[in-house]
Amino acid sequence: MGKLSIYIVCLMLILTASCKVDSKFDPIINEDDITVKWPDYFPAPAYDFSGNPITKEGFLLGKKLFYDPILSVDNTISCGSCHQQFAAFAHADHKLSHGIDNKLGVRNSQALFNMIWNTSFFWDGGSKHIEVQPIGPITNPVEMDETVQNVVYKLSQRADYKSLFKAAFNTDSITSQLMLKAIAQFMGAFVSASSKYDKNRIDPIANPFTEDEKLGQTIFESKCASCHVPPLFTDNSFRNNGLDEIFSDSGRYLITNINSDMGKFKVPSLRNIELTYPYMHDGRFETLPQVLNHYSSEIKQSATLDQSLTNGIALNNTEKQQLIAFLKTLTDREFINDPRFKEAN
Ligand code: HEC
Ligand code: HEC
Repeated sequence: MGKLSIYIVCLMLILTASCKVDSKFDPIINEDDITVKWPDYFPAPAYDFSGNPITKEGFLLGKKLFYDPILSVDNTISCGSCHQQFAAFAHADHKLSHGIDNKLGVRNSQALFNMIWNTSFFWDGGSKHIEVQPIGPITNPVEMDETVQNVVYKLSQRADYKSLFKAAFNTDSITSQLMLKAIAQFMGAFVSASSKYDKNRIDPIANPFTEDEKLGQTIFESKCASCHVPPLFTDNSFRNNGLDEIFSDSGRYLITNINSDMGKFKVPSLRNIELTYPYMHDGRFETLPQVLNHYSSEIKQSATLDQSLTNGIALNNTEKQQLIAFLKTLTDREFINDPRFKEAN
């Protein structure tokens, strides 16, 4: 389509009142612009900022908090220690997260992006809301091992934070609620939608897939997309994808206490999957070929195994290679280099 016809289509859509500002997705980054944008083929977000309007001051305060080790008991670990931008905010090359005193967590750090579409947080969905979620890591004894109350106390002793909270929320008193709102403004703005996959989806002529990527996409759509549903590459559900017969981590069951949830974990997004190794809730696989071998020949039977995986997913070597070529189109280098999210020097 030429520029003119795009313009006309958009004009028609405006006339039918469905061409949101959001749909004019422009992945080009303007460092001063903290508007949260996404392409029109994304669904409506679950979190809409209406109760927490995003402002430049709130976003910058959230960013400072995210990268500040003051949130941990001995002021050594920040959110950013386990969520690194170059790894799409996962913890690069760490099987299980490392926190306070180098204590080992029980789970693999999750990548952070497109979280305003999340209907729950954590591998087991143990938190429902982006504004409540940080209490988990702050108070977890092997992560930051701090109390929210003491973080608020430490922040209120600092002149710089006093003026930043004042600028963001026009208040003289620092509260945990406002701290959590600021972090949500920062993390909520992490939108990853500028991968080759997206560029191809928006304009396939200008951004064509290679033959392998195309074939990989077809395989993906028939064998993986029932759970890893595009364009977010998750359906937000909890499933058992056959990693174990006996579960050392009960997953979703820990939250619901329902037997049929035993060993089920959140279907993770596969966007940026090239960068977020190791894989699975316990980081057991180092590489994508290992993940594909799991699906093709190592599925473990158990009562809660997803029915679609009972016989595994047949994949020959060529298909595996093509699938990986497609998965790599989901890497979003603009997101991992976005200066708005970068730790200040
Ligand atoms: C010691 C490492 C560590 C630190 C520090 C840490 N996290 Fe995490 N983060 C993790 C791990 C591990 C998980 C997965 C936890 C689980 O499933 O039980 C996670 C999960 C999350 C999620 C859920 C993502 C999703 O898609 O469900 C968010 C959001 C998050 N962390 C934000 C933060 C914030 C904000 C901070 C700072 C207040 C923080 N993290 C500090 C390791 C860490
Ligand atoms: C029945 C649903 C289902 C199907 C089908 C499925 N997956 Fe998954 N996938 C999951 C779940 C659930 C997890 C997380 C499991 C865990 O960590 O316990 C996962 C994890 C992954 C991970 C690791 C992600 C990370 O961040 O650690 C990759 C990579 C992956 N799947 C790729 C694929 C590919 C490729 C296919 C098709 C060949 C596929 N999946 C088919 C449900 C599914």
